[in-house]
Amino acid sequence: MSILKVENVVSGYGSMEVLHDISLEVEEGQIVSVLGPNGAGKTTLLRAIFGVIKPWKGKIFYKGEEISGLSPERIARIGMCYVPQEENIFTSLTVQENLEMGAFIREDDWQPRLEEIYDLFPDLTDRRKSRAGELSGGMRQMLAIGRALMLNPELLLLDEPSTGLAPFLVEGIFDRIKKLNEQGVTVFLVEQNAQALQCSDRAYIMEGGEKKAEGSSRELLEDEEIGRHYLGR
Ligand SMILES: Nc1ncnc2c1ncn2[C@@H]1O[C@H](COP(=O)(O)OP(=O)(O)OP(=O)(O)O)[C@@H](O)[C@H]1O
Ligand SMILES: [Mg+2]
Repeated sequence: MSILKVENVVSGYGSMEVLHDISLEVEEGQIVSVLGPNGAGKTTLLRAIFGVIKPWKGKIFYKGEEISGLSPERIARIGMCYVPQEENIFTSLTVQENLEMGAFIREDDWQPRLEEIYDLFPDLTDRRKSRAGELSGGMRQMLAIGRALMLNPELLLLDEPSTGLAPFLVEGIFDRIKKLNEQGVTVFLVEQNAQALQCSDRAYIMEGGEKKAEGSSRELLEDEEIGRHYLGR
């Protein structure tokens, strides 16, 4: 069953239409990415899915239930979490405080979850008491993901997790994403970096607010035309 389904979504800002009739699906248990250049509408797509902006047309389903128009908080409570592209941590708080903030809508005991997240990102363990603003780009990204994981999401939306990382760290972040997927979290991520295909089961290519191609990562990697047009080869 697909955990996320986007059906003919049109949305944008003010009177500017950014997403033109976008349809896509994410199967439970997979890593699915959307690749596209600057301004393609990737962040806008995630905002529409997570309820930050409303779809003007079309529908969004989570596990078969329509969620179009629900608030981000309602969506987070049913199992989907979102790591925005920017300002995704509180720089003046410590690592530990950031993770604790991530549990803000949980009423049960989330302490064990905190330890699981430190196990997933061991580098953060040694920095529990450091201010998040002092962390390197890679560690900040892990903290942002860790914060979202505090709610135990079944589906995680990630906006360009490799942004701002030195090239030698990019593979590391995709490895972590793979590891958390192996622990059962479905991942839907958007990226400019075609390296995301290496960790994805399927991918979509988006440009100018339109879906240009879709397929398994292998199909897209083997397609010369797509390689030349969209993957910088
Ligand atoms: N808050 C906003 N208000 C008005 N227009 C916006 C807003 N955010 C984005 N846009 C416009 O929407 C279009 C798509 O932007 P979006 O941020 O979704 O692209 P993107 O694919 O995420 O790009 P990037 O890879 O640079 O993050 C662009 O033309 C952008 O200028
Ligand atoms: Mg963006």
